[in-house]
Amino acid sequence: MHALDVQKVSHWFGANRVLWDVNLQVAAGQIVAMVGPSGCGKSTLLRAILGTHPPREGVILADGIRIDGPTRHVGIVYQDYALYDFLTARKNVAFGPMLDETNPAFRLFRFPAWRRLRRRHLAEATALLEKVGLERAADRYPSEMSGGMRQRVAIAQALVMRPKILLLDEPFGALDEATREELQLMILSLAEENRLARQAGGQPPHTILLVTHELNEALYVAERVIGLSQFHEDGARGATIVYDKASPVFRPDQAKDVEALHKQREELRAAVFDPENLKKHDRYVTFWKDHADKR
Ligand SMILES: Nc1ncnc2c1ncn2[C@@H]1O[C@H](COP(=O)(O)OP(=O)(O)O)[C@@H](O)[C@H]1O
Ligand SMILES: [Mg+2]
Repeated sequence: MHALDVQKVSHWFGANRVLWDVNLQVAAGQIVAMVGPSGCGKSTLLRAILGTHPPREGVILADGIRIDGPTRHVGIVYQDYALYDFLTARKNVAFGPMLDETNPAFRLFRFPAWRRLRRRHLAEATALLEKVGLERAADRYPSEMSGGMRQRVAIAQALVMRPKILLLDEPFGALDEATREELQLMILSLAEENRLARQAGGQPPHTILLVTHELNEALYVAERVIGLSQFHEDGARGATIVYDKASPVFRPDQAKDVEALHKQREELRAAVFDPENLKKHDRYVTFWKDHADKR
């Protein structure tokens, strides 16, 4: 069973055919990047997976369960993700589980039980903040943090819900280059956590689908890169997945060697971003063929 299974998804707004026959399986513990021309439908696809905007056609499953509305199984962080200004970083992160696992009557009438649960949520929040490198900022308010720090809190806030899959929609787009690199490293550290969990025979905890317009970022942080594009043989019907291949795996302590990515970057550019290159849509979709063993 896949963490995410998108089956024959198509979507349109009036006469504007946006998505056509999108099929995508993501295994638990995969860190996947998605790139595509601006306006091709990446956010539309993420909203369908999130469950807030179901597709016109097709089915989406998270861990085998059909998505027909937002649930805690799918999390999302956007570029301009907003935190609660009146809560510290720690309380921002603990807020989601608190809402999900309690109700006002419980909080009022079962106060001791509520206090124990509250302590657990805060401890989980602290652990997550450590994971995203914010252990020393846990008691700061959003107004006391940089944009990069706030975006880390937002990611911790999503991770604390233990989603089956976490969607990141251009999450670092508004950040300066240095901050962006720090956050890329943070994603690599989550991938490293997956690797260690697998090595120990356990379940890798983080499954991530990251949309970015930066090809180097996609190739650097993800182990698999997907291209969504309207530039294919049947492009009039909408954008679909025209590229799906493994990409080099970097460890957090390894140098970011952009040169090593050169060949695949050019291939991506040709397959996904070139309006003249109208090949059959599955010409470069080979991930599962190349990795039959990982199915
Ligand atoms: N709510 C909407 N109503 C009408 N058209 C929309 C809506 N949302 C997105 N679109 C259109 O769908 C297409 C894909 O948009 P989007 O998914 O935001 O692209 P991307 O995230 O790849 O840049 C665009 O042509 C956009 O104008
Ligand atoms: Mg978008």
